[in-house]
Amino acid sequence: MVTERLEEKGYTIREATQNDIAEVMHINRVCLPENYPAYFFLQLQSNYSKAFLVAEKEGKVVGYIMCRVEYGKSHFGFRIIKKGHVVSIAVLPEHRRQGIGKNLLLNAEKALKEYGAKEIILEVRVSNTPAISLYEKLGYEKVKVLKGYYSDGEDAYLMAKKLE
Ligand SMILES: CC(C)(COP(=O)(O)OP(=O)(O)OC[C@H]1O[C@@H](n2cnc3c(N)ncnc32)[C@H](O)[C@@H]1OP(=O)(O)O)[C@@H](O)C(=O)NCCC(=O)NCCS
Repeated sequence: MVTERLEEKGYTIREATQNDIAEVMHINRVCLPENYPAYFFLQLQSNYSKAFLVAEKEGKVVGYIMCRVEYGKSHFGFRIIKKGHVVSIAVLPEHRRQGIGKNLLLNAEKALKEYGAKEIILEVRVSNTPAISLYEKLGYEKVKVLKGYYSDGEDAYLMAKKLE
C-alpha cells in the first residue's frame, strides 16, 4: 500500500472486510447525501475487495473508498476498455487534509490496475470544490458534464484519468 506520511500520523490503509461495512455506512451517511443499502456495500466488497479500502486510526475506520470495474468507451481514445469506477470516497471531517483521501485514491488506482482497468472514472458534484481539487491534483480531467445527475438536480462532472 502507498501510505505516504500517513503511518507516522497513526493511520493505516487496508482492504475492507465485511466487518467494516457498518462503520463505512456511518461515514457515508455523515459525509454524503448519496447513501445506499447494506447489500450494495457488501456486494462491492465481495466483488472488488482489492479496491474497497478503509483508512483506520486506533482501531476506528475514518475513511473509505469503494469501486467497481466496468466496460465502456475510452475517454482518451475510441476503444472499448475496462474502466475502474470510483463509486464513493469519504473521510470523516475531523480527519481531513492529512492525505487520507489522496492515499485511498492512489491505492484504489493500483488495485483497479490489477483488475485490468486502463482508465479510472468518477462523478462529482460541480459544487464539490474539495473533491474536485483532490482529483485534479491526482491528474483527473473533467471529460463531461452530466446534467441533473443527482437526485436534487445538481449537475456532475464526469472525471477520468488514464492509468499508466
Ligand atoms: C474529498 C475528500 C474525500 C478529501 O479527503 P481528504 O482526506 O481531506 O483529502 P487529502 O487530505 O488527501 O487532500 C489531498 C489534496 O486534495 C486537495 N483538497 C482536499 N480537500 C480540500 C479542500 N477542502 N479545499 C481545497 N483543496 C482540497 C488539496 O490539494 C489536498 O492537498 P493539501 O492538503 O496538501 O493541500 C473529503 O473532503 C471528503 O470526505 N468530502 C466529503 C465526501 C465527498 O465529497 N466525497 C467525494 C464525492 S465525489
